[in-house]
Amino acid sequence: MNATCLEGGVIVRPVTARIGAEIDGVDLTRPLAEPTLRGLRDALLRHQVIFFRDQPITHHDHLRLGRAFGTLAIHSGVPGLPDHPEIVAIQADENSRYVAGENWHSDLSCNAEPPMGSILAMKVVPDYGGDTCFASMYAAYDALSEPMRHFLDGLTAIHDGEHVYRPIVGPNGQTFPCSEHPVVRTHPETGRRCLFVNPSYTTRIPQLSKLESDAVLAMLYRHCMAADFQVRFRWRPDSIAFWDNRCTQHQAIWDYFPQVRSGFRVTIAGDRPS
Ligand SMILES: [Fe+2]
Repeated sequence: MNATCLEGGVIVRPVTARIGAEIDGVDLTRPLAEPTLRGLRDALLRHQVIFFRDQPITHHDHLRLGRAFGTLAIHSGVPGLPDHPEIVAIQADENSRYVAGENWHSDLSCNAEPPMGSILAMKVVPDYGGDTCFASMYAAYDALSEPMRHFLDGLTAIHDGEHVYRPIVGPNGQTFPCSEHPVVRTHPETGRRCLFVNPSYTTRIPQLSKLESDAVLAMLYRHCMAADFQVRFRWRPDSIAFWDNRCTQHQAIWDYFPQVRSGFRVTIAGDRPS
């Protein structure tokens, strides 16, 4: 397999040419040296989602890893663990009526400052199923025609958390963020342009009529979900995925009911899209 070695001994094996790479040569149960952290950041920026195998991290390790990449964010939609509010449990079993992230989305794009990234450590996996798909929004933007890119460049979109979280928490008086972001954002670290609308949170493009907005968003969602912009990750116990939320979308596939799938996630704070 084609492997390259980045700074700090970080070994990278791309899974596709556009998105996704498996990482070797790193032990996430230990504090990471600066060169290794630079190598991991480099891999993340190049491949947008990086995958690790056989990393039996504790909550403490998970928090340390997340903090090495930025400030940890408290989830605005669901509560964290009682002892570690920055860690959210991901759990589906025979009692689940829904699972988190079943539809394509970018995590918490309803926030004024959506997360820069998320790190999901899976602990219990079903015998079969339960993969996560990730899609490159760089690839999606690059594949649009020039007139369409030009048309989208000046538009914004509304991202609303209400319809995502209300069915989960019920009528409890809690309010959820709603924000307006550019339809096409510039990644603050790579400088690359990427699409930033998703079918979970995005509700409309305010510069267009409802009919126009619905049609443009439907076209973009269909475009973004092309299989050749995607990578699909098969989890094992103690696998970890670390995705750049600024230039990707993902979907957790719930095709394993009533089996159990559970893990933990931390979310790294991001900046206002521009
Ligand atoms: Fe998600």
